[in-house]
Amino acid sequence: MSEREHWGSRTGFILAAAGSAIGLGNIWKFPFITGMYGGAAFVLAYLICIALVGFPVMLIEFAIGRRTQRNPVGAFKALAPGTPWFMVGGLGVVAVFVILSYYSVVAGWTLGYIFAAISGAFHNLAEPSQAKDYFENFGADPFKTIICHLFFMALVSFVVIKGVKKGIEKWSKILMPLLLVILVVLMIRGLTLPGAEDGVNFLVKPDFSKLNGNTILVALGHAFFTLSLGMGAMITYGSYLSRKENLLSSAVIIVFLDTFIALMAGIAIFTAVFAHGLAPDGGPALIFHVLPTVFPHIPGGYFFGILFFLLLFIAAITSGISLLEVVIAYFTDEKGWSRKTAVIVFGGLVFLVGVPSALSTGPLADWKIFFGMTFFDFMDYMSFKYMLPLGGFLMCIFVGYYWGAKEFIDEIKSGNPAFSLRPVAAMVLITIAGILILITLVTGILGVGA
Ligand code: TRP
Repeated sequence: MSEREHWGSRTGFILAAAGSAIGLGNIWKFPFITGMYGGAAFVLAYLICIALVGFPVMLIEFAIGRRTQRNPVGAFKALAPGTPWFMVGGLGVVAVFVILSYYSVVAGWTLGYIFAAISGAFHNLAEPSQAKDYFENFGADPFKTIICHLFFMALVSFVVIKGVKKGIEKWSKILMPLLLVILVVLMIRGLTLPGAEDGVNFLVKPDFSKLNGNTILVALGHAFFTLSLGMGAMITYGSYLSRKENLLSSAVIIVFLDTFIALMAGIAIFTAVFAHGLAPDGGPALIFHVLPTVFPHIPGGYFFGILFFLLLFIAAITSGISLLEVVIAYFTDEKGWSRKTAVIVFGGLVFLVGVPSALSTGPLADWKIFFGMTFFDFMDYMSFKYMLPLGGFLMCIFVGYYWGAKEFIDEIKSGNPAFSLRPVAAMVLITIAGILILITLVTGILGVGA
């Protein structure tokens, strides 16, 4: 077997992993769920979930990946031969089809919106109701949604086909700094709008009466999604790391960057929304219905409109890459496929699975075969609510009670000899994370947090 490809540098790895984590979850989802679930109180719940659950699970994934130097299925097979644990990795490979197929559709919308912004289409959108009509017309056009989805998958495949160093790492090193620059520009624009304080206050002054069980459930589900956890994406990226790398400090940096970017995106968006007296609780369509009506009113709005959708697109592409890489790693490691064949076959398959999602805002809008949800909503719901938390929960059990806290600590120590934690303490931390996930899952299944 040829030698496994590794990241070319620590910065390259951190940017690639941050690129995976920072995505539509940060710039599309975080702002709209914060708007729906009460602002600062939700932000606080989310930060706690990131610290207590997200961070340990990220370390667990990195440790499993680096120790085994394998894709998620191969990793569990190596650590637990002859047991059904490999199915946890299998769940991750399946999750790629569920997540990436609809993720690519939303990414496609952002692409369509870049063109709309360039063509000056937002200029005629004075009212949110007009922006809503615009979005509905766009979504209803199967040709547009499918072409945009196809284009996004083609770009993702183009990068992944080139491999870890020359594809994923190279593009992450270009795109992530660009993303940061665009976001800083947009945030400064937001903060200098008259009335911007209301937007900032919405994010930092908690109203605890808004905090309830459901808020916490959503915050926890989002912690998984935003950090790309629960399905082996971080196992895969960890598997391209060498023993010398410091896992702990890498995870700290990645979690910090992800959270920081989400908060910056929140500021950029809510300052604009509040400055125009619009409602923060617009739901999933917040940035598509509300923001286009803001741009025509602000100086330089034409330019900022283009930048905003470009920002979303960049964020989406580095995340899409990490999703596709999970299946590619599986087929190249376990089945001996060439990278090229695997990318063409599975990039194509994910595209096909995504077609019903691309049609869910148009011809298939009334096709509600799953619990009254469209295909698109069902894909989102299944992954965010069940698959990722389930994957994360099983990984906690695996490390805490099968592989063992001592091995886990040893893996963190490699590359960071000064690290010390007693196995009992690690067990306690892993168990707390596991219990929190379990509560979320059970309440979700019982319908409390629907
Ligand atoms: N974290 C990304 C976002 O915030 C989405 C993502 C990429 C993801 N890879 C993942 C989510 C793996 C779950 C699992 O948009």
